[in-house]
Amino acid sequence: MTQPPSMSAAGSGLRLTLRGIGHAYRALTVLQDIDLTVAPGEVLALVGPSGCGKSTLLGIMGGLIAPAAGTVEASGSVADDCLNPVTYVFQDFALLPWRSVRDNVALPLEPHLSRAARAARVDEVLALTSLTAFADAWPRELSGGMRQRVGIARALAVRPACLLMDEPLSALDAQTRTLLLEEFAGLIARAGITTVYVTHTLSEAVRIGHQVAVLSRRPGRVRALLRIDRPIEGRRAADPDLLAMEERIWAMIRDDAATAERERIDAPD
Ligand SMILES: Nc1ncnc2c1ncn2[C@@H]1O[C@H](COP(=O)(O)OP(=O)(O)OP(=O)(O)O)[C@@H](O)[C@H]1O
Ligand SMILES: [Mg+2]
Repeated sequence: MTQPPSMSAAGSGLRLTLRGIGHAYRALTVLQDIDLTVAPGEVLALVGPSGCGKSTLLGIMGGLIAPAAGTVEASGSVADDCLNPVTYVFQDFALLPWRSVRDNVALPLEPHLSRAARAARVDEVLALTSLTAFADAWPRELSGGMRQRVGIARALAVRPACLLMDEPLSALDAQTRTLLLEEFAGLIARAGITTVYVTHTLSEAVRIGHQVAVLSRRPGRVRALLRIDRPIEGRRAADPDLLAMEERIWAMIRDDAATAERERIDAPD
């Protein structure tokens, strides 16, 4: 894949600083005392048992949810052509079925850019995500993996300084997940976009994270924060060090995960 010079925004990402974040939905305390920092261009992978508050924390980072306690600070420079500094990528792709691939990617640009500027930017991100040949296809004609490529192309089109990704690959089969993860990791690393990546899949977390934050069972607290110092590009899933780290994380959350699962089964509908 080619990379236009304008995507080499290394260093232009935001720094996210979370201090003392806590949250509750009525009587249900979901997050407690969360302190985290994501440096510009760094990827934080967020893992933890089901229901521990990962999506809530992502919502707080993105300003969608006001935390009951604590602060989120986003600091640093944002590129001049950035149209949406903090951008979400959703698990369910969230494509509009009545728009072509090209028009789905153009959607967030429409209020901001002229037709010509939009077309140029859409072409650029379609090339970056290997979608050029599918520009005029409809979402229903695409596989799940291709649809999520469109999701990431649309997110990149606004030149985000920070990407918030909530289990972006979890609806896909294992092979597609592996391939897309490698591609996304490369794209994010080369573009230098600060990223928070929520996943249940520990192999994804150690493959894509500079840091891996392991949350405890609800109320979610940071149980461990692991740093992986090797570059994201070139990491291999079969790397023994990464596998060992995955084992360590799994040992930490296994009991919590089992308890969370029991709670889910026991919960009334
Ligand atoms: N809007 C809401 N109102 C009430 N409770 C909520 C709301 N959103 C989430 N919850 C509850 O808060 C807890 C944390 O939810 P959240 O979705 O943040 O967890 P999660 O770690 O993302 O879970 P999963 O791994 O299943 O995606 C869960 O028990 C959930 O049922
Ligand atoms: Mg979630």
